[in-house]
Amino acid sequence: MAIWTPEIEERQRPLYMALANALKADIASGRLHPGDRLPTQRELASNLGISIGTVTRAYREAEERGGIESAPGRGTFVRRVRGERAVMGAGISYDSNLIDLTLAHPQYSEDPDLAEAFRNLLRRGDLQRLLRYQSIEGNPGYLAAGEKWLGAHGISTERDRIAVTAGAQHALYVLLSILTESGDLVLADELTYPGFVSAVTQLGLRTRGVPGDEEGMLPGALSAFCKNEGPKALYLIPTIHNPTGVVMSAARRKEIASVAAQYDLPVIEDDILRLLEPDPPPPISTFYPQGVFFIADMSKSVAGGVRIAYLSVPQPFKEAVVSAVSNTVFMVSPICAELAANWIEDGSALRAAARKRAEAEARQVIANEILGRFSHRTHPRSYYFWLELPEEWTSAEFAAEARRRGVGVATARPFVTGGCSPPPAVRISLSAAESRTSLETALGILSNLLDNPTKGSPGLV
Ligand SMILES: Cc1ncc(COP(=O)(O)O)c(C=O)c1O
Repeated sequence: MAIWTPEIEERQRPLYMALANALKADIASGRLHPGDRLPTQRELASNLGISIGTVTRAYREAEERGGIESAPGRGTFVRRVRGERAVMGAGISYDSNLIDLTLAHPQYSEDPDLAEAFRNLLRRGDLQRLLRYQSIEGNPGYLAAGEKWLGAHGISTERDRIAVTAGAQHALYVLLSILTESGDLVLADELTYPGFVSAVTQLGLRTRGVPGDEEGMLPGALSAFCKNEGPKALYLIPTIHNPTGVVMSAARRKEIASVAAQYDLPVIEDDILRLLEPDPPPPISTFYPQGVFFIADMSKSVAGGVRIAYLSVPQPFKEAVVSAVSNTVFMVSPICAELAANWIEDGSALRAAARKRAEAEARQVIANEILGRFSHRTHPRSYYFWLELPEEWTSAEFAAEARRRGVGVATARPFVTGGCSPPPAVRISLSAAESRTSLETALGILSNLLDNPTKGSPGLV
């Protein structure tokens, strides 16, 4: 195509946002196509008579939204892939100079011993069976493990309601795909887990954020959405919310369940950090068992690479869930299912969860010592620290400057549900640091940056 010249909405401010919005609009309207090369920052700045810094910020914003991507040495292009990038879903930084606290890596130092697990599997014999195609849902050993793991999460359920997925992200995709059709509306908190937002986008759904307070989502606001907008599902992370750390109170859980039941609204209860809380309130599922799809995961409390989650689903939906698992991954890997079942049965899984809880607590103490004086939201056992920035920073600018100084943090945008604006904040994944010492170093750098808010040259980013 000829060189792209955006039409900028003059009244929109700041200018870099107006430019990022023009880019988004041109991608949506088809004026720009997947794979199209964008002008260099210098070209665009000169064509529009604006500074290179403004173009840099606009491209960075658009890249964060998932609309464009840059290839070092080749230029900047409109993204080819459908859907938002699953920002939190994958990725290990290979930059050894960076302490990367962007992603939700769950304290690997406390993972169970894999070599020992494989030795145990070997001793049991007949390992070859794990290489066969098989029905995970029909395997009594895996269902018994699921029943036990769900029990540890406060869910007592019959085996004909249990389904197994390849982790919680897969569970979300499966559940959204059976509960909705393209274009439907799904509700969540105003800030939520980015993998939910990316699954919703991938499925062509819409989201809206329901306001909340320190006790969790507001029942009155949920009720208004149900009355006026006909949502098809509600997604909640009631225990140690990602990213804010809110634990929804028992009373609030009951009220939310009651509103959902009144409108026959299915609820996806993602209780992935529940085992970090010694005495959590009852699951929402206990107040509305006929409408709640409960997810008990292994990733955050045992090990991220196991890729197993157990679901308790309302019985009439069990078959649809099993079909959706089959249609997406055919079957969960028996090697993973066996590992998970053995760790649950011999107690290693709960022991790992207890170690991770203690480690999370220790890291929170460090975070509060170093960053506690700055505005933030978190919880004494959360893996995350949601840092609310002073007004001189945007989220993207702070993240870029922190990275320049050797610390990766996540910008706010991926956590934002449809209809809400990203707040000036970043998420710091305390659990991602390799050790407490590297965490201290990283948080020291961030604290120093907050005390001395100098911004590097935008042209260098
Ligand atoms: C709230 C929440 N749900 C789901 C997931 C995805 O978990 P999994 O690794 O099991 O897919 C995450 C990962 O960070 C999460 O924070």
